[in-house]
Amino acid sequence: MTIVPTNGGKKDKKSADAGLSDVVKTEVAHNDVPKPKTNRTQLLSAKETPADLKSDATLRPQTLDEYIGQSRLKTMLTMSIGAAKSRQEALDHVLFYGPPGLGKTTLARVIANEMGARIHMTSGPSLERPRDIIGLVHQLEAGDVLFIDEIHRLSRVAEELLYPAIEDFVIDLTSGKGHATRTMRLPLPKFTLIGATTKAGMISNALRDRFGFVLRLEFYSRDELAKIVARTARLLNVAMTEDAVVAIAGRARGTPRIANRLVRLVRDYGHFQGAETITESIAVAALDSYAVDAFGLDATDRRMLEILIDHYQGGPVGIETIAATLGEDSDTLEDVYEPFLIQAGFIQRTPRGRCATPQAYTHLGRAPINNHLGAGQLGIEFNKE
Ligand code: ADE
Repeated sequence: MTIVPTNGGKKDKKSADAGLSDVVKTEVAHNDVPKPKTNRTQLLSAKETPADLKSDATLRPQTLDEYIGQSRLKTMLTMSIGAAKSRQEALDHVLFYGPPGLGKTTLARVIANEMGARIHMTSGPSLERPRDIIGLVHQLEAGDVLFIDEIHRLSRVAEELLYPAIEDFVIDLTSGKGHATRTMRLPLPKFTLIGATTKAGMISNALRDRFGFVLRLEFYSRDELAKIVARTARLLNVAMTEDAVVAIAGRARGTPRIANRLVRLVRDYGHFQGAETITESIAVAALDSYAVDAFGLDATDRRMLEILIDHYQGGPVGIETIAATLGEDSDTLEDVYEPFLIQAGFIQRTPRGRCATPQAYTHLGRAPINNHLGAGQLGIEFNKE
């Protein structure tokens, strides 16, 4: 697989967060793993940090065989890649969606690698003007993979130019204005578009319908995360007991990116303590020092639950209200914090807003009350105390 830089390294703020240009650079330049510069909020955020980028370059699985988890999706990709290769055709276009940190970019690279194809990596916000798209597709060769992260952030113009490119492998170039406007249709080589998004609901039907595969990434089970933690420890040459592996996996919020970050943190903590092997007690002490609890919840998660329970009687309450009370951005709450809190059973989304579940009350050491609105909304019966 060859990585082809796109957009001449041009970055907007959001794609700088996603670090796409860096991905291309670190791919070549970094073999060693730097110390993570981590604060508490960063530690459990599924958003990619510069330290993740550098470290992931050495940890990233290269093949579907090496890739742990997402088994349903892997089976489908294995069959389709095999079929496309035997017909010597490009793979049909793929859309990955799901919370951040679950491996959408990694899978795009794995697909390119399995197809023996070059990959061009860019992101929706970088493709604002027609010339951004034209410049990009102009570089494509037959069989190449074009990866567009945050594809829900493509501009309307870019999206419309992309339709014929992905459907009929042609691009319409226009010149002149008004009556003098001319359109020229140019053929493109057959390529595979891989789109990734955390917001499937923001993709137009017209765009979604043009993907042959629309695949949702799921949170990873504890067992799958334990395999990822053990693999990462092995690749980083960190000796770790099985108990320590399980303790880290249990706090990783179903997210490989967070699991790998916790391994680096625990490794550094153990190193500082002079430990040769990371035991469970070292791992737990390291994670406790960052206020990561046994479910992987951090201060912001707990605060979100406290607000629901203590300020709004368990809900239902709208995300904007929670965000205002918490002093956080509602998009961050919705994209980064809430998916895991829902998946882990602490919050339920209802048509009238978010509700804290009985598990959230227990986790925060609060006695659930019989008549609170959240329970009423969920139809939950609490014990009378
Ligand atoms: N590192 C991050 N995600 C991974 C995965 N799904 N399998 C193996 N290693 C990984």
